[in-house]
Amino acid sequence: MTGGITHLRHVDLAVVDPDAERGFYRDVWGLVPMAEDSGALFLAAEGSDEQYTLRLRGALARRVDLVAFGVATRADVDHFAEAASALGRGLVTEPGTLQTPGGGYGFRFLDIEGRTLEISAEVQPRAAREVGPREAIPTGLSHVVLNTTDLDGAVRFYTEVLGFRVSDWLEHHMCFLRCNQWHHTLALTDNPHSSLNHVAWEMRGIDEYMRATGRAMRAGIDLAWGPGRHGPGDNTFSYFSAPSGFVTEFTTELERVDDHAWTPRVFRRIPEESDLWGTAVVRKAEPFVGVPDPGAWTPPPF
Ligand SMILES: [Fe+2]
Repeated sequence: MTGGITHLRHVDLAVVDPDAERGFYRDVWGLVPMAEDSGALFLAAEGSDEQYTLRLRGALARRVDLVAFGVATRADVDHFAEAASALGRGLVTEPGTLQTPGGGYGFRFLDIEGRTLEISAEVQPRAAREVGPREAIPTGLSHVVLNTTDLDGAVRFYTEVLGFRVSDWLEHHMCFLRCNQWHHTLALTDNPHSSLNHVAWEMRGIDEYMRATGRAMRAGIDLAWGPGRHGPGDNTFSYFSAPSGFVTEFTTELERVDDHAWTPRVFRRIPEESDLWGTAVVRKAEPFVGVPDPGAWTPPPF
């Protein structure tokens, strides 16, 4: 008996100005640089036992290098490698020992729009610490949202091949998917091109989320949308544009889902359902739309 994907592990990005991005994620966002190797910087979240939640490297144009998911066992890695092989596109890397911090056993493959995904197990956990009251630093990664040109195809791929479950829809525009008790670890949204919509970091609670939001606002970081609270997932949101232009989110209090008692709902694209508090007066569309990702069908160099 093999198990499914357990959680989101890390997101790897290439950016034009890695020094600016590193400074932003360290000083404004509250992540901790923990290792550097061959031009890649690994940043951890204090409250997470993942070795790193974000990998940054420099490149001529910004792109998504990969999205990494965890599974419980080596057998689960092999199971997903077989399922990915059956897609007929080959794998980017065969299952084997990972050379990234914490090691482990994993492989890489491409999804239906050529995004590089990694699935791994047995990565050595990092010594995390509990984030305390009023500490406005991320406790870990919450979710990633991908822009897709083929919403139904992408939902089919992530549910049928990777075992995600549909939690909710936002009309036929966005689909929220879970792999554990959290309402969404992944969401897919309709877009003119395939790209990254945003990456979200979990905060300890509302107070820490608001303090972090205020810190970023005071630092003059471009607020793309928020602060507010969404209908789907019931989570709070403050979206900012990082120096690279990629959107990053502080969130907390994401809804938990009981698999056996859950029926997916369809939310409407109206302010009353996307901004429950009515406080998210700033709303910019283009940072979320992004630009066509040059990482499609081109796995990262390492
Ligand atoms: Fe989000």
